[in-house]
Amino acid sequence: PKIFALVPAAGQGTRIGDAVPKQYIPLAGKPMMFHALETLASVSRIHAVIAILAPLDRHWGEYDWSEFPEKIEAVFSGGKNRAESVTNALAHLDARIAKDDWVLVHDAARPCITKSLLEQFLDEVENDPVGGLLAMPLADTLKRAEETLRVAETIPRDGLWRAQTPQMFRCGLLRRSLAQRPESTDESSAVEQMLGNAPKLVQGDNTNLKVTFAEDLELAEMILLRRQM
Ligand code: CTP
Ligand code: MG
Repeated sequence: PKIFALVPAAGQGTRIGDAVPKQYIPLAGKPMMFHALETLASVSRIHAVIAILAPLDRHWGEYDWSEFPEKIEAVFSGGKNRAESVTNALAHLDARIAKDDWVLVHDAARPCITKSLLEQFLDEVENDPVGGLLAMPLADTLKRAEETLRVAETIPRDGLWRAQTPQMFRCGLLRRSLAQRPESTDESSAVEQMLGNAPKLVQGDNTNLKVTFAEDLELAEMILLRRQM
């Protein structure tokens, strides 16, 4: 089976609120999403790297893609939420991806993923019957809040993990899962709902952070610049 990497990049970045969608904000010398695209393309086991863009994306065309690995391409099939973006892209790629090919999904907003973490993840998941995801055990103590912003209770964190990406599943299973759970905020939560399909957790790395708020940009850039030194 082949591995197809899909990079959802069709969001608006409203929580950062920049003039451009966050995946195009310059970070350590290039637009944020280029980092993940190039790192994914550097992994020889990955067959193709496909950015999922908004149908009206005006930015992709501004770059000279002849300078980038041939493996990288784009589909303009973003939807109203992330799951719909992935579902649309799978429909668009239907003729190219076989049912038992792997679909690896990685956020455009996680630019600090490394080649070695990707390789480690693939080693762990490639032979799994279901698939899996990178995740981190929780480090902070969890509080449930009352509406008045007073603590209602502390929630035991034993066994709790924070999901990251990449997440990787067989194309057929992923497509069926997303069809049944079109509101899922990640691929794993859709697959989990299918009886007998518990995704494998692979420990990630705290530097594989998701850029959601403005302060995350600064942290991600520090991590990327430090690696260039
Ligand atoms: N995404 C997507 N299609 C959507 C919404 C999100 O492809 N309709 C992508 C984003 O581009 C991002 C990833 O999914 O790479 C994770 O989403 P998130 O961090 O929520 O990004 P945005 O939706 O762009 O940000 P915000 O929620 O702040 O608007
Ligand atoms: Mg969003």
